[in-house]
Amino acid sequence: MGSTSVLTLLTVLSVFTALFAVIFQAYLASNDLMKLTTILQNMKTLENQIPSHKARVAIGYGSCSDLYVKAVDFLNFTESLENALSQGTYNVDDINTEDEFLQSFAYYFQRGAAAERFTSNKELFQNLVRLAKKSSTAEPRWALGGNAPVIGSRLAMEGAEVMLAAKMSSKLKSHLRPDVRLVGSSIDDDDIHLILEYKTGDEWGTLKSPRANRYILHNDHNNPFINSLEEFELALPEFNPHLFVVSGLQMMDNYVYQPGVRESRIEKVRAQMQSQPSDTLVHFEMASFVELELFQLLLKDVIPYSDSLGMNEQELDNLQQVLETGKISLVADCNPRVALSLDQLRAVIRILNNDYYMKRDADPNRRMLSRIHLHTLAYQAIVTAKGTSWNNTKNAAAKASLTAHRHVCASSIVNPDAAYRLLDDSFATSTLEGARRIPFSKEDPVSCWNETIPVNNQHQLEVEICVAPVLICKVAKQTAGAGDNISGAGLVLQI
Ligand SMILES: *[C@@H]1O[C@H](CO)[C@@H](O)[C@H](O)[C@H]1NC(C)=O
Ligand SMILES: *[C@@H]1O[C@H](CO)[C@@H](O)[C@H](O)[C@H]1NC(C)=O
Ligand SMILES: *[C@@H]1O[C@H](CO)[C@@H](O)[C@H](O)[C@H]1NC(C)=O
Ligand SMILES: *[C@@H]1O[C@H](CO)[C@@H](O)[C@H](O)[C@H]1NC(C)=O
Repeated sequence: MGSTSVLTLLTVLSVFTALFAVIFQAYLASNDLMKLTTILQNMKTLENQIPSHKARVAIGYGSCSDLYVKAVDFLNFTESLENALSQGTYNVDDINTEDEFLQSFAYYFQRGAAAERFTSNKELFQNLVRLAKKSSTAEPRWALGGNAPVIGSRLAMEGAEVMLAAKMSSKLKSHLRPDVRLVGSSIDDDDIHLILEYKTGDEWGTLKSPRANRYILHNDHNNPFINSLEEFELALPEFNPHLFVVSGLQMMDNYVYQPGVRESRIEKVRAQMQSQPSDTLVHFEMASFVELELFQLLLKDVIPYSDSLGMNEQELDNLQQVLETGKISLVADCNPRVALSLDQLRAVIRILNNDYYMKRDADPNRRMLSRIHLHTLAYQAIVTAKGTSWNNTKNAAAKASLTAHRHVCASSIVNPDAAYRLLDDSFATSTLEGARRIPFSKEDPVSCWNETIPVNNQHQLEVEICVAPVLICKVAKQTAGAGDNISGAGLVLQI
């Protein structure tokens, strides 16, 4: 009898404990949902800043036809790949065979790092495209692609007047918004990009992805020559843009050129940037560059003539590594802490602006780097120099963050139920000891502060830094093109 009642009591207790746990979980979840809803409302208020004028934006270069597939349903995890992985000797960037391609994909997939790679093997590429097109499991779909058309469309959607430099087939052109003015004659065959998308936790053979991302394979033959550049040159002076955006130069990565050809094309890009009047702002959208030689050309001919840079966490790490060590970094932490990223941004600003101050007398066309937009999965960070014409940094960070959610969820409505936050309740502004901590406020979700970045003995830069949390899309629908939409959304409120 005694032991029975103890048992009964235990049963009752455990039922109550379970019930309490369920209720407590529900309470936590609804609390979290309320918090997300408040953050969302406040971010929307910031986003609704009306641009002060209809900005004219000129965007180069290139376009392509994107073929999307679900990576893990399309690619076969082969035995030879498994062997290569177990020996740890895999190929990353020089893609000539199917094995090398699979190894390269595996390398980035298991790190969740975005990648964009060229293969010179036309047969391999065409065969993959042929298989992708007819795949019954990988859900193939086509879209107008390339950084310039995506950034341009986003800016046009936000009300800017856009002129785009690209040569396209008439078929591809029919996918372009009619309000985007295309400069570039018609071509017969568009370059195709095969976009292999994957979600967080996707499994492929023995591998698992830590976050949603994409790997892009291409075999471009038009884009590496930036062949819309000359026609653009004729149209630019009359258009007289407020903002000139340079993007798509990663299509020159790893392409096999005749000696001197790439150098001379990049010099032409430089001339086009230099010919912009000083009140036209110049933005360069970075990308996944792997060839050091090309990167050095960018540091010589492109970056010094840019007021603003846009990049993701991999590209920031790569830029900092090249500037500090002269070496390419292929992958970085796919979810870096705010403190670390801000230190990297400061380092980049210091090095590039030191260069600017040292060389501006000899070369008056150089521009001070006065803006960087870093887009990551968990947050958006925008740094702008005081006294420059970049306006509304806080609003721009909010808009970039909401655009990230909308793009990845492929929905114009941001539903707090479909979102989660990775940013903690406070973050440090630097990894250095004694760094300030900024508490996160749901009432004022985009944190901004002023700071002085020392550049060299004579110069320092007064900047405003804004960090916005991303309401991350729980079920990613698309990741390719996210950076371009986000960068475009960030720019439109600042020009
Ligand atoms: C994967 O393997 C299947 C069966 O052998 C084959 O039909 C398919 O074409 C392969 N897919 C790719 C992308 O190689
Ligand atoms: C991103 O840009 C592409 C191309 O302009 C567009 O189709 C897509 O809808 C955009 N994403 C969002 C969230 O608007
Ligand atoms: C930063 O400086 C600007 C003036 O340049 C000022 O309006 C703003 O309130 C400052 N922000 C903070 C957070 O102190
Ligand atoms: C930035 O803001 C200032 C003051 O609000 C305004 O006069 C100026 O026109 C704005 N600049 C641009 C490029 O919109």
